[in-house]
Amino acid sequence: MPDIVHPVSVEFAANANINAEQYQAMYKESIDNPDGFWAEQANKYVSWFKPWDTVSDWSFDQEDLHIEWFKNAKLNVSYNCLDRHLEKRGDQVAIIWEGDSPEDDRKITYKELHEEVSRFANVLKDRGVQKGDRVSLYLPMIPEAAVAMLACTRIGAIHSIVFGGFSPDALASRINDSDCKVVITSDQSMRGGRKIPLKVNADTAIDNCPGVTTCIVVRRGGDDVAWTEGRDIWYDEAIAAASPDCPPEEMDSEDPLFILYTSGSTGTPKGVLHSTGGYLVQAAMTHEAVFDYKDGDVYWCTADVGWVTGHTYIVYGPLANGATTLMFEGIPTYPDISRFWQVVDKHKVNIFYTAPTAIRSLMGAGNGPVESTSRETLRVLGTVGEPINPEAWEWYHGVVGNGKCPIVDTWWQTETGSHMMTPLPGAHALKPGSATAPFFGVHPVLLDDEGNEIEGNPASGNLAIDRPWPAMIRTVFGDHKRFYETYFSMFKGYYFTGDGAKRDEDGNYWITGRVDDVLNVSGHRLGTAEIEAALGLHEVVAEAAVVGYPHDLTGQGIYAYVTLMDGEEGSEELKAELVKLVRGEIGPIAKINIIQFAPGLPKTRSGKIMRRILRKIAADEVDGLGDTSTLADPSVVDDLIDNRENR
Ligand code: WT7
Repeated sequence: MPDIVHPVSVEFAANANINAEQYQAMYKESIDNPDGFWAEQANKYVSWFKPWDTVSDWSFDQEDLHIEWFKNAKLNVSYNCLDRHLEKRGDQVAIIWEGDSPEDDRKITYKELHEEVSRFANVLKDRGVQKGDRVSLYLPMIPEAAVAMLACTRIGAIHSIVFGGFSPDALASRINDSDCKVVITSDQSMRGGRKIPLKVNADTAIDNCPGVTTCIVVRRGGDDVAWTEGRDIWYDEAIAAASPDCPPEEMDSEDPLFILYTSGSTGTPKGVLHSTGGYLVQAAMTHEAVFDYKDGDVYWCTADVGWVTGHTYIVYGPLANGATTLMFEGIPTYPDISRFWQVVDKHKVNIFYTAPTAIRSLMGAGNGPVESTSRETLRVLGTVGEPINPEAWEWYHGVVGNGKCPIVDTWWQTETGSHMMTPLPGAHALKPGSATAPFFGVHPVLLDDEGNEIEGNPASGNLAIDRPWPAMIRTVFGDHKRFYETYFSMFKGYYFTGDGAKRDEDGNYWITGRVDDVLNVSGHRLGTAEIEAALGLHEVVAEAAVVGYPHDLTGQGIYAYVTLMDGEEGSEELKAELVKLVRGEIGPIAKINIIQFAPGLPKTRSGKIMRRILRKIAADEVDGLGDTSTLADPSVVDDLIDNRENR
């Protein structure tokens, strides 16, 4: 581990929301007295219609697995994100929207957002959506996405957002799994000057979704779209006809707020279910503490609302805090590679939060495109999604932030709902590549493969958390058994993250990446099982095994070993077909980098594929393959090595 340390800036700490001393005291309190700590935060960050009678009630045991926070309290998320701000900041901008084209932008005040959300909530009600019903969102990065989310929360409907880059098949399986009767989409989405036909995709998906009765379409690109009378309605027409008066539904703290599908080691993507009270408390608190957010700041998170980062740190956290949140429709390289920094200058952004993969690709274009902009308003920078390599960290810090902005490297997951480990900018010395320290209330442990806690520093092991936190996943939608099996069965009594981590001499944490069969490509999570299943659909494929390998730009690349049916020949054409097949099944993010045709895969005598070996070969580390003697046929390994593909 490199021993570069950037100490806390004295000036920054002097004005910070939380300094080192405060962090220490608050962290101690949060671990020694979690209920007292979280009760205080719940009162500080959220307005409740009715208080709780118990702060937390939980068990990680198989028979009794449950997690509850702020029991029997009542609240409404859209009330917290909108209504309660109206008096003080009705005319303040809530959302700055920056379109794909630099000529396209919009500012929406809290008053305007409140009115549009209320109208749209009434539209949903008119279409029969009731408390507890699921609504699917398949939308570009346009303000209507935030409106739709908040409108769902206003009436107690559960939204399930599907990233606009997912294929019709992926959308259909998510709509069906959560039994959505309403789908909200747009005619097109605009990215880098290109139109993507979202409504066409949604139509294809809905053909296989018998439960869908309504499709609400936002006009974005303006092209003609196919129309199913009775089922399809235009968003703008419906809104104009709806009443702007819609009282917020009183929700229980533990009522579900949203479902978000994410990939795991096995099977189809899981519907991660988050609930209302605890999620909102921690979303708001982390947004303020981690980004050192102050009233009046312009805050920009570049994620898509299709991922959890967009949920928590574009919409719910910032709006609960009455912030001005910037929503960007485009890509970092359009119309040119300075776009991020041009947007920072145009809207005077103070806090900027993005992914290491974006930083690495922009770094590749050199300093010129950054230095042609001022960026003088920036105060805090953040990263999320994958480990950041120290070189990219230093570039982000030195060139983008002019050496004056602390970087918060935030480690968390779809399942954790909000930040779990990160430096606080006024409290922690920064170590490039380290997620540093646990957030309040989070008690990380490193476990050996037998589940024993590894004490002392330095140490490395499986990263687990030994107690619940308010924003954590409550269940896998429709499959509580899978919830237990995925997160709690591996190490009894702990939530297992799927990540490996190291703890250095100072007790700071370094995430080393997934230790399960989950890939992280450009900060996007993909299950190897999903990709293998897609490959298996091709008639000449007998079997496939997919692993990740280190990739300079995307963090991990996708390497597929494919065994063909007897008598079939591998070819470049077939490779191209397989790449296209997977992309069509899952979406453009599932782009296989390398395919190796393999006559046999390394299997144990009981038939289990030894992925450890496949990972090594894909990484070109063929010298340290370890013990291969337990393989049914050790000779397949030689063939795989001899015929490995170039990275
Ligand atoms: C996985 C979760 C949570 C927002 C985006 C991804 C990896 C995330 C970091 C970080 C090292 C990170 C982990 C984690 N990850 N942030 N700062 N440093 N690794 O959410 O799709 O649920 O993926 O992303 O491997 O388990 P996700």
